[in-house]
Amino acid sequence: MRTRNQSAEPFYSPAGTKRRSPWRQPRRTVQAGQPGTVARKGNPSPAAAVVVPAAGASGPAQGCALRRFRVPPHRATSDIVAGAYPFLAEAGLGSHGVYIGQDAWSGGGFCFDPWTLYADGTLTNPNCLLAGVLGKGKSFLAKSIATRSIAFGRRVYVPGDPKGEWSVVAEAVGGAAIRLGTGTGNRLNPLDAGPRPAGLDQAAWEQEVARRRRTLLGALAATALGRPLAAVEHTALDAALGAACSTADVPTLPVVVDQLLTPTVTLAAATPAELARDGRDLAHALRRLVAGDLAGLFDGPSTVTFDPDLPMVSLDLSAIQGSDDLIALVMTCASAWMEAALAEPDGGQRWVIYDEAWRLIRQPALLARMQSQWKLSRGLGIANLLIIHRLSDLEAVGDANSQARALAQGLLADCSTKIVYQQEVSETAHTATKLGLTTAEQDQLPDLQRGEGLWRVGQQAFIVRHVATPAETQLFDTSARMSTLTSARTRASEETS
Ligand SMILES: Nc1ncnc2c1ncn2[C@@H]1O[C@H](COP(=O)(O)OP(=O)(O)OP(=O)(O)O)[C@@H](O)[C@H]1O
Ligand SMILES: [Mg+2]
Repeated sequence: MRTRNQSAEPFYSPAGTKRRSPWRQPRRTVQAGQPGTVARKGNPSPAAAVVVPAAGASGPAQGCALRRFRVPPHRATSDIVAGAYPFLAEAGLGSHGVYIGQDAWSGGGFCFDPWTLYADGTLTNPNCLLAGVLGKGKSFLAKSIATRSIAFGRRVYVPGDPKGEWSVVAEAVGGAAIRLGTGTGNRLNPLDAGPRPAGLDQAAWEQEVARRRRTLLGALAATALGRPLAAVEHTALDAALGAACSTADVPTLPVVVDQLLTPTVTLAAATPAELARDGRDLAHALRRLVAGDLAGLFDGPSTVTFDPDLPMVSLDLSAIQGSDDLIALVMTCASAWMEAALAEPDGGQRWVIYDEAWRLIRQPALLARMQSQWKLSRGLGIANLLIIHRLSDLEAVGDANSQARALAQGLLADCSTKIVYQQEVSETAHTATKLGLTTAEQDQLPDLQRGEGLWRVGQQAFIVRHVATPAETQLFDTSARMSTLTSARTRASEETS
């Protein structure tokens, strides 16, 4: 009967020796400290008399193989090789960009940089979508990406933070959080000109400011009215803004509202009485911003400034009490600043992070502004990150076949990177269809743990475990209150028992 050694022998013939019949191979010996020294047992040389012990050679030869490991080369298609050798893994995206964590399939590190991946053709745009159920670490990941990117010279804008959880992060990295809402005492004039881009002459700049103010007022009015403006309302708004600009260098909203309610200008197409009648609904909708539940926020010159050169700026809306409509109005007012900063051609590469975006995309006016940012992203070096709960959030926008629905779907189509955190079982089929996932990838979605996500980067897919440092964990924690309550309860139950 053949022993196991004998049957394995042909695969381990030492280099340079002729292969012999296995059962005629002599027993090999080696002197400790002389790797590769072999001798016939029947004729031991004085220098090679020690048989290799079962635990291997000791001394300098420790851990060395006596023979080279040789396997005949084999070539096959990746399908067949995956069956014959199932331990195949993605090569990864390289080591450019910020370290995210561990690639769960290969065990290697996973780095991500949308600008580098766009430059090498892996991505067709730098925008990213991040979807996942509550509390699975979406914001945590976004905060890691943002703060780690700052070390690479990128800046970060968070144009709306309804939970106020980015403020502490912005301040920790030397940036600023602009807090708006009841009790903050801060006021922002949405008609501020914003920072003037370098290289733009005075005439072009004035034209740009006028265009921006008009677009902003139109978006504000549409949001406040809950419908698009009629043609006569556009005319009334033009007249009111023109009159407000003629009274001050930097007009304010109350002056525009006064001009809508009691116009003082006459246009070729309309008398003041006609303008007042046409702009009546509009005036009352905008009046809410200066005298209604948002009084004190936008009704005068700004008391806070937006510094686009800071590493991170977030707009903290946690003090805005009320519906998503109010948040949308405030974000629209503040967006003029940010858009001016983003339009700066020499502004470098920037992340714009829309956390809790499922609330924002319900507002058609905001959605339209977001879409224009998406389209500009490549030209201006911006990577937008949209954070939602599930892909069907994008289908809950507007009515079927509405423009808003099409805009929301367009945002998904313009995100080359999709990161999917845990999804409910009922959502996985839809997610897989939307993202073109394989069944193996789809099956992973309900089982993903906190901090784990399926990254679809261009045509490649990875399961990545986000790794956070202790300092990040402390800074980004949004469950601190929950853990305080839990530990208080545990203490109380320990005391009573
Ligand atoms: N990678 C991680 N490492 C350690 N802890 C994590 C990680 N990801 C998430 N957590 C923990 O999970 C908590 C919730 O995370 P996070 O607030 O990012 O969830 P979310 O998906 O944004 O939730 P929501 O949808 O409610 O905004 C964090 O406060 C943190 O304690
Ligand atoms: Mg979150």
